Amino acid sequence: MQSVARMEEITRALPKTAGGDTALACILFPVVLSAPGSFDRMVSIATEYRDSLFFIFISDDIPASDYKRLVQTGGADWASTRGAPEEIVDIIARVGRGVSTADVGEPTLTEPVMVAFLPSAGGVGNSTLAIEVGIQIKTTKRTRSRRVCLLDLDFQGSHVCDYLDIEPRMQIDEIAANPERLDAQLFDLFVSHHKSGLDVLAAPRNKDNAPDLDAQTLEVLFRMIAARYDLILLDLPVPWFNWTRQLLSAVEVVFVSGLNTIPGLRQVAQSLTAVRAVERVPAKVAVVLNRCEYRLVGGIARRKHVKNLLGSEEVFYVRDDVENAVQSVNTGIPISVQGHGKVSKDIAPITLLASEAKPVPAAVPR
Ligand SMILES: Nc1ncnc2c1ncn2[C@@H]1O[C@H](COP(=O)(O)OP(=O)(O)O)[C@@H](O)[C@H]1O
Ligand SMILES: [Mg+2]
Repeated sequence: MQSVARMEEITRALPKTAGGDTALACILFPVVLSAPGSFDRMVSIATEYRDSLFFIFISDDIPASDYKRLVQTGGADWASTRGAPEEIVDIIARVGRGVSTADVGEPTLTEPVMVAFLPSAGGVGNSTLAIEVGIQIKTTKRTRSRRVCLLDLDFQGSHVCDYLDIEPRMQIDEIAANPERLDAQLFDLFVSHHKSGLDVLAAPRNKDNAPDLDAQTLEVLFRMIAARYDLILLDLPVPWFNWTRQLLSAVEVVFVSGLNTIPGLRQVAQSLTAVRAVERVPAKVAVVLNRCEYRLVGGIARRKHVKNLLGSEEVFYVRDDVENAVQSVNTGIPISVQGHGKVSKDIAPITLLASEAKPVPAAVPR
């Protein structure tokens, strides 16, 4: 480990591109982000020297737009101050793999990553967000090779399959009654395949489904899922069950969804407090305010309320678009597949964050 005082000490000695047979010299360079002015400069340096240097930025938090810019350079990533030691090791491992394989840009992940969508209240669009993120990952060239599974954990009122016009197949009661019978063959029968390539695990809606699964059932189910998928998107129900905390302790990213009204923001704040009280707090906790009112002048309405009630939380805004949302659920074609711009664009940074989430060993309940 060597410290340098000025960037020039490194860049002067380096070629801008690693040509021909030259192996990519990968230098890790932790930087504590302080002055926003220097951020632009770092982004341009990361872009310029991406073939010979790799930067890891460390800060408490990072705005989604900055994170996106960093990752898009292809020569930088970000680690949170809190999880820095582990996250840096992960990034190094990923970069190492990226260097040794020809498939630069798409890391081969071994440990699955779990990303949770947690509704702060009913009907806020939690399932819609989880679905659109899954669809965007599977329809984006860079990420479509990822094996992505959307697990609908609303066993009584599941509606993900309705939105995607596929049949729900997971007999959750059967798994709960005989967890030891869940083998590969039975699991395969429980998977619904969407034509985008997104796999869905959802139970047929049934008020008799008992959602309080025991630890053994969960373990058996997640062992099956973890062996088959790289990225697991969880669509959680509004009520918390005895497995909710255990599951949240195993995710890397959690998006708390809600609405931009005073009661809606309070529900979001309470959900955030509950998430941060779980045994192992997810590395990234962010908020998605869905169905936001958008004004031609001034953009998203009532940002001040958000600032007052959510302070410095990272917030993604998704605008209200009833016409396309209704058309989407009535036709079974996701908004992102219909290609009607704005809502999909608002969801894109959420997709990026979900798809860039890094696997952490023991991320799945064992
Ligand atoms: N951005 C949006 N604009 C307009 N309607 C939306 C938006 N997001 C979701 N909806 C609609 O809101 C309703 C509830 O969404 P859903 O995803 O089922 O919520 P939840 O899973 O939180 O109960 C659905 O009819 C859905 O189409
Ligand atoms: Mg739902």
